[in-house]
Amino acid sequence: MTKVLPDPAKRAMLLTALYIAQEQYGSLTPDALERVSARLGISPAQVYETATFYSMFRTQPAGRYVLQVCEGLSCYLADGAENLAAYIQNKLHICPGETTTDGLFTLQMVQCLASCSSSPAMRVNDTLYENLTADRVDMLLDELRGG
Ligand code: FES
Repeated sequence: MTKVLPDPAKRAMLLTALYIAQEQYGSLTPDALERVSARLGISPAQVYETATFYSMFRTQPAGRYVLQVCEGLSCYLADGAENLAAYIQNKLHICPGETTTDGLFTLQMVQCLASCSSSPAMRVNDTLYENLTADRVDMLLDELRGG
């Protein structure tokens, strides 16, 4: 069976459409994916494939702040990925994929955030944080809590 690729212009719009849908729905729910598919005329399977390929998209509800800790090789070698993830897990009492009970933070482990020279790195929603240490994580979490 041959896979039919969508019009290149529509494919180019797909990432933006998914981003906007995620902003509007909070996550890429089945309804959000269906609307993107219908609007762009791209098959639901291809829209889902794209939505689940990129770490910036989420198909499950998440907290207000999504903490994406990089577990790529550079971050791992910088002695950051495991330590940083463990530190955040202990501090927030959640495991990767979970959200704090106050709905504020969701923790995710992701692959390379394209910031290898400044590892360890973590993305919080749309903002990238580099050269992280436990102290910097503490400050960041306090700031996000509004404290
Ligand atoms: S491996 Fe972490 S930013 Fe590239």
